[in-house]
Amino acid sequence: MSFKTKDVVLSQTRPTTLLLQKHADYLASYGLNKDDFEYCMTEYLRMSGIYWSLTAMELMDQSSRMPKDDIIEFISLCQDSESGGISASNGHDPHMLYTLSAVQVLAMYDRSDAINIDGVVKFVVSLQQDDGSFFGDKWGEVDTRFSFCAVMTLSLLHRLDAINVNRAVDFVLSCMNFDGGFGSKPGSESHAGLIYCCVGTLSICKRMDALKVDELAWWLCERQLPSGGLNGRPEKLPDLCYSWWVMASLSMLNRIHWVDQEKLEQYILACQDSETGGFSDRPGDITDPFHTLFGLAGLSLLGNSSIKQVNPTYCMPQETIDRLRLEPQILL
Ligand code: FPP
Ligand code: ZN
Repeated sequence: MSFKTKDVVLSQTRPTTLLLQKHADYLASYGLNKDDFEYCMTEYLRMSGIYWSLTAMELMDQSSRMPKDDIIEFISLCQDSESGGISASNGHDPHMLYTLSAVQVLAMYDRSDAINIDGVVKFVVSLQQDDGSFFGDKWGEVDTRFSFCAVMTLSLLHRLDAINVNRAVDFVLSCMNFDGGFGSKPGSESHAGLIYCCVGTLSICKRMDALKVDELAWWLCERQLPSGGLNGRPEKLPDLCYSWWVMASLSMLNRIHWVDQEKLEQYILACQDSETGGFSDRPGDITDPFHTLFGLAGLSLLGNSSIKQVNPTYCMPQETIDRLRLEPQILL
């Protein structure tokens, strides 16, 4: 029995060069009209939207076009004085995902003083469970993505010692599968997004020695399809954001040469919209700030010289990680 590969065909008329200025203009004007339908519908993830846009603008060296003072004030307003956690938007419930995005933005601005750092540390510590796992918020969902958010948030604040790091690592390792990959919890199937979270956790905790490197890198490079794009699991369509989840993981494993980098670059460039600016998940789809960041960050990993160097563990400019003197482990 044979299976038909799910993939896309890149058209002859696709963009083949980087439209950098279009992307910067797209992000600079995104959200300027607060009544815009798409802007209103994305309020529940606003804090992450700010992180995606600011990081992309930093990588293009155009972050001065973002409203810095308004962003910093917005973040302070989103910190919950009781739990210490930070929400996606004013009046929403605090969550690990948005706490991380806020801390990443403040790290890029070198303005962590704008929030109550002890409050953030208290929030993250309160969500660690006896088995080392983390809840995303008070409602109790466990997922390895929250382990990653927890260690990344604390490391950016130089407070990793506040949690039980050994147990956090043990929980992540209990999610490792026979193929070397990781899922969201013990026994869940391998998924490239969660592999990035688990490898990232081990990178920050300097426990990359625990990985089955060859099996994992093999599973990751098998995500490349004939179009050059990458999927997140077998039998799925390619999606530009997986250029990040897969390539950042391979980069921490020092094995990005295991994929066809030229074909991947062509796929990423084909996901640009030459009229509106921005990148989408697949060629011809509607663009958004999330895929725009991962398009640019993916090209940075591939060595594109018009984009600043991105750190594969933190998905932030390498210069920010250097300024904070953070040294996530990367395999040699
Ligand atoms: C796919 O999710 C992506 C993931 C599971 C990874 C998410 C990673 C984080 C939240 C950590 C923070 C990220 C950065 C860059 C600092 P999905 O639910 O869209 O999966 P699907 O494609 O299978 O639907
Ligand atoms: Zn995607």
